Amino acid sequence: MAQNWTPNSWRQKPIQQVPDFPDLAALSATEAQLTTFPPLVFAGEARRLKNQLANVSEGKGFLLQGGDCAESFAEHGADTIRDFFRAFLQMAVVLTFGAQQPVVKVGRIAGQFAKPRSSNIERQGDVELPSYRGDIINGIEFNEKARIPDPERQIMAYRQSAATLNLLRAFAMGGYANLENVHQWMLGFIKDSPQAERYRKLADRISETMDFMKAIGITSENHPSLRETDFFTSHEALLLGYEQALTRVDSTSGDWYATSGHMIWIGDRTRQPDHAHIEYCRGIKNPLGLKCGPSLTGDGLIELIDLLNPQNEPGRLTLICRFGHDKVAEHLPRLIRAVEKEGRKVVWSCDPMHGNTITLNSYKTRPFERILSEVESFFQIHRAEGTHPGGIHIEMTGNDVTECTGGARALSGADLADRYHTHCDPRLNADQALELAFLLAERMKGGRDEKRMVVNG
Ligand code: TRP
Ligand code: MN
Repeated sequence: MAQNWTPNSWRQKPIQQVPDFPDLAALSATEAQLTTFPPLVFAGEARRLKNQLANVSEGKGFLLQGGDCAESFAEHGADTIRDFFRAFLQMAVVLTFGAQQPVVKVGRIAGQFAKPRSSNIERQGDVELPSYRGDIINGIEFNEKARIPDPERQIMAYRQSAATLNLLRAFAMGGYANLENVHQWMLGFIKDSPQAERYRKLADRISETMDFMKAIGITSENHPSLRETDFFTSHEALLLGYEQALTRVDSTSGDWYATSGHMIWIGDRTRQPDHAHIEYCRGIKNPLGLKCGPSLTGDGLIELIDLLNPQNEPGRLTLICRFGHDKVAEHLPRLIRAVEKEGRKVVWSCDPMHGNTITLNSYKTRPFERILSEVESFFQIHRAEGTHPGGIHIEMTGNDVTECTGGARALSGADLADRYHTHCDPRLNADQALELAFLLAERMKGGRDEKRMVVNG
């Protein structure tokens, strides 16, 4: 077990991005109540995810991680969850088929409620109010009452997470994710989508393969892996009081686990080695993500790896790189070299969203071509360094929103106003997400063919 660590040892450390709760007694009462609630996930599931990620760190698999920037109370409904899950499955199937590698499926969902902010204050005209920090903390409406941090929201976030996870488990295990449904996942997909035809062709090939397997006796009835999929949850572990309340001892191993989600990550703004977020995360056994931005040095990264993964356990740590399309070539190689030199086992994942945010017509947006460009560079750099480009981390939705510009349907700055619904950062819509998956599949296949050529040549 981590030395001198307890679920509340983070409280002795400096901390960034904490809300100003006016009523600390009410906050403690809520945290006490949360400690009595059932865990949302089990330690055994987190270990299963860690094993799958360990394979990815060895070059055998690819991590697909995605979902809302911030989940919201207002948009909590069965259709939203189903639409997200369907878009996610489509991406997963495109990647699995294209790369001929297992895809580890992790949603930014069922707990992704707390947001770090660049400023404590939001100003509109002459009015200044505390910034919105996610539905688990305060309300997005720009008025004084909504912006007061309210502990009761943590109970609502917990309950929404439980309900969301319940439906996701049913979808993943109860038949919806059956590969025999690969064509059905396209229904509800916008008709004029440029990706539809491409997807249909791929689905045809999968159906044909399934028919062949059926003919030789391999069916989804006698092979659960054809009808079920492992779907895991993740979120940024920002609100540590909430995380602590859901930190539990696993009775089979005696280890501590965060039970708020299978995987949790540490943000680029809260990764100071001697601060609270690193302190909390080092003591729990879940797989962890660490966001790596331009300010991280090679030595800084190794120092963090020493704290978070001292045993060099494969699958424990995923480095989620978010530099920006124009900065990735400058920053990623030094991190890869530092990790390789020290022989550390990590999963390298690319977050092409957070370094590519711009403002257009007073909307926060992300040009799709910059997202693709960062992904392309990420792959090229890993090929050049001889390391495995192991995953992607994206903000996406299953709905037809207009938040990121570009894509095959060429959303323009003027289109942003049509369906701009995000509670925080702009997300890829279902169409753009699928387009990205096709591009990724091509790149992954390219890498495989290259390797084969080296072997044959
Ligand atoms: N169980 C396998 C997997 O999860 C195959 C599979 C079943 C699958 N349903 C799926 C793959 C849906 C992608 C999407 O990889
Ligand atoms: Mn975001």
